[in-house]
Amino acid sequence: MRSTVRMNDGWVFHEGFEPEWSSELRPGGRVRLPHTAVELPFGYFDEGSYQRRFCYQKVIAWTPEFAEREVSLLFDGAMANSTVFLNGRKVSSHRDGYTPFEARLTGGLKKGENVVTVRIDGTENPDIPPFGGQIDYLTYAGIYRDVWLRVAPPVSIERLKVETPDALGASGTAMVRVDIRDAHRAGGDIRLAATLLDPGGDAIGRTEAVTCDSSAVLQFAGPGKVALWDLDSPELYRVIVDLACPAGTDRVQTNFGYRTAEFTPDGFLLNGKPVGIRGLNRHQSFPHVGYAAGRRVQERDAEILKRKLGCNLVRTSHYPQSPWFLDHCDRVGLLVFEEIPGWQHIGGAAWKRDSVQNVRRMIQRDWNHPSIVLWGVRINESADDHDFYAETNALARMLDPTRQTAGVRNFPCSEFLEDVYTMNDFVLGSETLPGANHGRIALRRQAEVTGLNRTVPYLVTEFNGHMYPTKSTDPEERQIEHVTRHLQVLDAAGGDPQVSGCIGWCMADYNTHCDFGSGDRICHHGVLDMHRDPKFAAYAYASQRDPAAGVVLTPVTFWARGERSIGGAIPLMILTNCEEVEYRIGNGITGRAYPDRAAFPNLEHPPVIIDDRHIPRREQDRWGMEWFGLELTGFVGGDPVRTMRLAADPVPVRLGVSTDFPELLASEKDHVPVRVRVLDQAGNPLPHFNEPLTVRVVGPARLVGPDLLAFRGGRAAFWLESVGERGCVEIEVAVRRLAPARLKLDAV
Ligand code: GAL
Repeated sequence: MRSTVRMNDGWVFHEGFEPEWSSELRPGGRVRLPHTAVELPFGYFDEGSYQRRFCYQKVIAWTPEFAEREVSLLFDGAMANSTVFLNGRKVSSHRDGYTPFEARLTGGLKKGENVVTVRIDGTENPDIPPFGGQIDYLTYAGIYRDVWLRVAPPVSIERLKVETPDALGASGTAMVRVDIRDAHRAGGDIRLAATLLDPGGDAIGRTEAVTCDSSAVLQFAGPGKVALWDLDSPELYRVIVDLACPAGTDRVQTNFGYRTAEFTPDGFLLNGKPVGIRGLNRHQSFPHVGYAAGRRVQERDAEILKRKLGCNLVRTSHYPQSPWFLDHCDRVGLLVFEEIPGWQHIGGAAWKRDSVQNVRRMIQRDWNHPSIVLWGVRINESADDHDFYAETNALARMLDPTRQTAGVRNFPCSEFLEDVYTMNDFVLGSETLPGANHGRIALRRQAEVTGLNRTVPYLVTEFNGHMYPTKSTDPEERQIEHVTRHLQVLDAAGGDPQVSGCIGWCMADYNTHCDFGSGDRICHHGVLDMHRDPKFAAYAYASQRDPAAGVVLTPVTFWARGERSIGGAIPLMILTNCEEVEYRIGNGITGRAYPDRAAFPNLEHPPVIIDDRHIPRREQDRWGMEWFGLELTGFVGGDPVRTMRLAADPVPVRLGVSTDFPELLASEKDHVPVRVRVLDQAGNPLPHFNEPLTVRVVGPARLVGPDLLAFRGGRAAFWLESVGERGCVEIEVAVRRLAPARLKLDAV
C-alpha cells in the first residue's frame, strides 16, 4: 500500500542559487510551505524583486519503508522553472508554475540523511508560458503549494478517470479507467477491485478486473438511481481502487459526481435543465503572500463566490488553480471554467509545445472534478493560430471526451475551433471613448462577435474590469456607475437566449505589473478588494441569489448630503433580493418601492430605485439645509426580513473586529483573515475613515504584513499565520480616538 504524507515543514530557504549548493544542506532560515519567496507590500512595490532564483532544501531521513519501493516527492505547484536535486544529482525539472510535478527519488536515496534541493526561478522566462509578452497579473515566486512524499509499491496506480455515461438514467453506471504505472514489473496478473461509495460513505457497488496491461476499465454496472451533483445539492460519490499483484498492493481514491453539463446554442444545461451562468473571474493571489495561501483561504474563496456573491461559476483566469480551491468548488456546487496559463502572447514552437503539455497536465489533474464544465485550451485573448489551437482542442477532446472546450478571445470573427465560443465582451463603457460611434450597449449580439452564419454555444467570459476600475475608496457616484455596469451586463446576458451567461471581471482586486492597474501595482477591478472585503458591486451579484440563501438590502450610498456632485442622495439605488422596500427618511418621508423591472427586465432581482417618482423634487429640496437618517426595511412574502439604518450624523463609536475562522490551525500553514471596521452609531463602517490602525499580536501566530495599517473605505484587514505551535493568540487593534478592540483566538 502506498503512503502519502505532507512534506510542508522544515524546508530551509535561501535567496539565490549556486550549483554547489545542491549537494549539502546549507544553514538558513526554516520555512513552511506553502511559501512565497518575497513578501510584497500591499501596493507600490518592485515586481522585479522576486524575479530571480531561490533555493529550498530539505533533509529526508532514510527509513526502511523506502527499501524496494518507489519514493517520490510530489509538488502541487512551484513558480517556476523548478529543478529538483537529490544529494547533488538532478532528478527532475518542471517549467510550468501552475501544474503539479513529481521528483522520483527512487535509486538515489542513501541510508542516513538525504538532501533534497529545489531550485526555482522567478524570472519571467520568455520560453515558458505565460511569459514572453506582458501579463496583467503577477506570478509570485516560491514553492507556493503543498509538497507530498509518496512511498508506493513498484507497480502502482498512476491515475483514475471516472466517467458516468448514464448520469441522468436509472442505472447509475460508472466507468473507472485505471492507469497503471510500471505494469511490466508486476511479476504476474494485476488484480484491480473498485468500490463505489455513495455521498454518505456507504459502499454501494464493487467491481473487479484482472489485467497485465498499463490500463484497464472497470464498470459499476448498475448501483441504481443516484443523487446528482447539482448546484443546490452537490452530491459527491467516491471510488476506491485497490491494486494487487506479486509486486505489491496499492490503493487510490477519488471523488466524482453524477451530472451532465452542456453548452448549447440555446444556453447552458446542467443535468438537462437550463442554468443561466452568473460568474466571476478569479486570480489566486492575496495581499503580501501572493499565491502562497493556505488551504482554508483557498476554500474560503469558493465559499465567497458561491454563498456570499451568489455566483454559479468561476473562471480560473488564467491558469489551473489550487487543488484545494477546486475540491471546494465540488463541495459547494460552484461550476468551474478552468484554463491553461497564458495572457495574449503566443511564443515559439517550444513554447507552444509546453502549452500543449499544460493542456494535458491540467486535464489529467482535474478530470474527476464534477464542478469543472469547460476546458479553456486557448491562451487568454491571444490571436488566432490554427495549428496550435487545432492541437490543443484535439488533445483535450482525446483526453476527456466528456467535457466541451472553450478558448477565450477578445476580438470578433476569430476562428472557432472549440465547442463553445467564449468572448471577453468589453463593449460597455466604450461608448465614451474617442471615436466610438455607438450608444450604451451592454453586450454585443452573438452573430456580430462570431461572424458565423449559425448560432453556436456562446458564453461571455469577461466584462467591466479595466473599462471601469473602481476602488472601495472611490466616490459614491463612481460606485453607482460600477454597480450599474455590472447589473446591465447581467441583465443583457439574462435577456439574450443566445448567451449562456456572463462572467464578470473580476472577483477581487489583484496585484499586477506596473504596465497595468492604477500605478500602485493593483488592478482595482474586483467586486471585492484584495482582502475580499466587498465593494458595492459585490451586492449586484449577491442580490441575485434567492433570499432564502441570505437577504441582501444594500443601498448604494454613503448617505451624506454633499458626497455627490451638486448634492443629495436621490436617485437611491438599493441592491436587494427583497420583493419590496419600505423607506423612511427622517420622521417625514416614507413609502414603499419595488424592484425596477422596467430598467432591468431580465434580472431575477432588479435593484429598487428610489427617485423623483417616489419623492417629489419639492420634498427633496426641503432637505436643503438639514439632513436626516435613512431607514430601509425589506419585505419578502409580505414579511419584514431585514431593516437597516444609515445615520444622518455618523461618528466613530467603536471598532469592530472579526475573523473569517474561529481558530487557527497549528498543524498546517493556515491563515486567518482578521477584519476591522470603524463603526458609527448605527453599526455601519465609516467610508471615509482613513486613519492609522495599530495591530498587536501576542501568542503563536505571525502577523502577515505591517503592524501599522491605514483604513481604506472604513475597513482594514490583515492575516494571521500559524507558526506550528498551539496556544492562545491575543489580538489588539487600536486607533487613536477609540477604545482598542481585542480578540482571542486559539491556535489548535
Ligand atoms: C482582459 C484580460 C484580463 C484582465 C482584464 C482587465 O482583457 O483578459 O486578464 O486584464 O482584461 O479588465
